[in-house]
Amino acid sequence: MTEQPRVLIFDTTLRDGEQSPGATMTHEEKLEIAGLLDEMGVDIIEAGFPIASEGDFAAVTEIAKRAKTSTICGLARANFKDIDRCWEAVKHARSPRIHTFIGTSPLHRAIPNLDMDQMAERIHDTVSHARNLCDNVQWSPMDATRTEHDYLCRVVEIAIKAGATTINIPDTVGYTYPFESAKLIAMLLERVPGADAITFATHCHNDLGMATANSLAAVEAGARQIECTINGLGERAGNTALEEVVMAMRVRNDILPYKTGIDTTKIMNLSRRVSAVSGFPVQFNKAIVGKNAFLHESGIHQDGVLKNVETFEIMRPEHIGLTQKNLTMGKHSGRAALRAKLKELGFELADNQLNDVFVRFKALADRKKEVYDDDLIALVADEATNDEHDFLQVKRLRVVCGTEGPREAELTLTIDGVDHSTDATGDGPVDAAFNAVDELFPHEAKLEIYQVSAVTEGTDAQATVSVRLSEDGRIATGSSADTDTVVASVKAYVNALNRLIVRKQKTAPDSDVKQVNYKDAH
Ligand code: KIV
Ligand code: ZN
Repeated sequence: MTEQPRVLIFDTTLRDGEQSPGATMTHEEKLEIAGLLDEMGVDIIEAGFPIASEGDFAAVTEIAKRAKTSTICGLARANFKDIDRCWEAVKHARSPRIHTFIGTSPLHRAIPNLDMDQMAERIHDTVSHARNLCDNVQWSPMDATRTEHDYLCRVVEIAIKAGATTINIPDTVGYTYPFESAKLIAMLLERVPGADAITFATHCHNDLGMATANSLAAVEAGARQIECTINGLGERAGNTALEEVVMAMRVRNDILPYKTGIDTTKIMNLSRRVSAVSGFPVQFNKAIVGKNAFLHESGIHQDGVLKNVETFEIMRPEHIGLTQKNLTMGKHSGRAALRAKLKELGFELADNQLNDVFVRFKALADRKKEVYDDDLIALVADEATNDEHDFLQVKRLRVVCGTEGPREAELTLTIDGVDHSTDATGDGPVDAAFNAVDELFPHEAKLEIYQVSAVTEGTDAQATVSVRLSEDGRIATGSSADTDTVVASVKAYVNALNRLIVRKQKTAPDSDVKQVNYKDAH
């Protein structure tokens, strides 16, 4: 049997995903996610945009130093300063890559005010510069799917001649259609001299819900690298979801005869971790990783699945690392049992983290009759998002609510290590508690989204709360879980404020390389 062609998986959760408004991750969180991606077998990790901020530079550098098998890539605009900075960060990797890009469609060419010839020259100069630094160079014509075909062929040829080893074809605004996506790759392979010597990549956004289909269509036409993110995280409607393309190639290998190096049993854990650290909940009916993706509610479906799982299931939950929804443990379970259970769920915690989670598990088991896998997952996620080093911490909260007002909250916040207390009233307990936070820590942020969902069934279930705040165009999302919905709400609110503070520091005007958005590049 002939060996199936290998499709490289390029994960950009930490770059395009993190660029999604509100999805800021801390340094430690980025290192953790990169480690998990590396272990899962991702071929290339796009770890960040090194010139965008000191924080991005530090994260890409550290990820490059720690990577075991993945190639580590950084993003750079089409100028020498960006490319040099990118190289400074990725050069520590066992296998580094520079990814440089410029917008080539008529709309994007108008921004730097370059005519076609001037842009072609810029592409030649910057790709050559990158190639002088690094053997592995990726070049992207941003908005390729809206670029004139003749011009696209011309600039792709220039980039290949200048030394690009991967040419990425981005559907930056999620505009293309599967048939068109395939035709574009086929056209480039046919018309561009030297195209057969490099790897073509596909990078799709999901604005019309076609990112997965467009990516797979490009592969059928000859692309051999898919750029994607965990949970489809990304700007607007997101990027191609890694779990969807990987599982599609596995489940429909009869018509998509390609292999990847991904250990699919790690998918579920990565999905949970990315959701927790980005603060973006996964929609219940999300393909592959949604809470309902393997649930069979109707009697007919349940009966069919019990008789033969293939009746209504095209893949097994174990294939993505989803264990059965077990009754986990009770208040008498010990530390070793907790460690074993967490390992089964994909979490390998250091001793000090395990101790913290154990204390919280005991407290939860005291309050809640039955502790399920989902409870433990929420608990670990909460432990990871709410850090003891956070600038703001909820120390104590007491609320009065009911049919007779006023609803009152007494709150003690630890702000930069010092305790501050106050009382506040509001329209309900959550409103009163949020008002108390605002009194202790006045800020300009606007509450955009407040969302509560139950982790498991029953009135004693933990609530997961997600809060999104915005201030001066910066967005931050916070989350928390607790059996007390008001406590979870205040912690999620404070978590979002902490993230906003980090984001502001990252983009402070006095920083040498202040906020750069690739969209206003060039
Ligand atoms: O969507 C896009 O065009 C990008 C490029 C930087 C590759 O993310
Ligand atoms: Zn993108």
